[in-house]
Amino acid sequence: MSQAAMTLSERADELEEQMMHELNQKIATKSVLFGLADGKVEIQNGNDLLAKNPGKYFLMGADKRLPEMPEKPTLIDFFRRRFASSAHLLQSAKHALKNGLSEKTILACLLHDIGVVSFIRCDHGYWGAQLIEPYVDEEVSWAIRMHQALRFFPDESVGYKYPDQYIKLFGPDYRPEPYIEEEYKRARNHKWYMTARMITVNDIYSFDPNAKVELEEFTDIIGRNFRQPKEGLGWDNTPSSHMWRTLNWPTRFL
Ligand SMILES: [Fe+2]
Ligand SMILES: [Fe+2]
Repeated sequence: MSQAAMTLSERADELEEQMMHELNQKIATKSVLFGLADGKVEIQNGNDLLAKNPGKYFLMGADKRLPEMPEKPTLIDFFRRRFASSAHLLQSAKHALKNGLSEKTILACLLHDIGVVSFIRCDHGYWGAQLIEPYVDEEVSWAIRMHQALRFFPDESVGYKYPDQYIKLFGPDYRPEPYIEEEYKRARNHKWYMTARMITVNDIYSFDPNAKVELEEFTDIIGRNFRQPKEGLGWDNTPSSHMWRTLNWPTRFL
């Protein structure tokens, strides 16, 4: 296509792609999921990309555009170098700490939205729980999984109302899907219900830009309650290691 025939956004896309490849010296690729978010169901053709980048190979490791990760990354490394924002998590955990909740519950609050800040919003409670499952007490990952559903249902016994924020975000007519309602019913009768409920109680919806909480305040709680693998997250052969590797190397060709 000639330059003249390209729209501005096509030119911007091409420039971005060019810069991306130069930075890496290797060809970084976008997985299908990244395109779905732009409303496109398509896959970048490997041979086309090779033809456009003579002499280059596909990226099979770290993407140099992203903050460099250590060889044996810890949860804290992911917090600092891969999580797009941690203010909400830190504020929730601080709230739980001030309320005198158990370390397990504080950890659950600290990690409850890591699915959102590192990966994907949709079903984030499930993704987040799965990521940390091999490294925490079962009660912590269970609570994070269940906060996905519980946040839509009030519990007056602990002063939790349906969040006003959700009316603003989803409209007054939004109702959770049947699978969420089913999950809520299961969680409601579970022995760890209150742990998951405490995540919703300490989930601060109105982000306060002045309340600064440092991750260091939770180093000890993480140390005592998150079983950091000596090989580094991703290199330790658990059912979620591949997920940590994908966060580390999101543009790896295969
Ligand atoms: Fe959440
Ligand atoms: Fe949250």
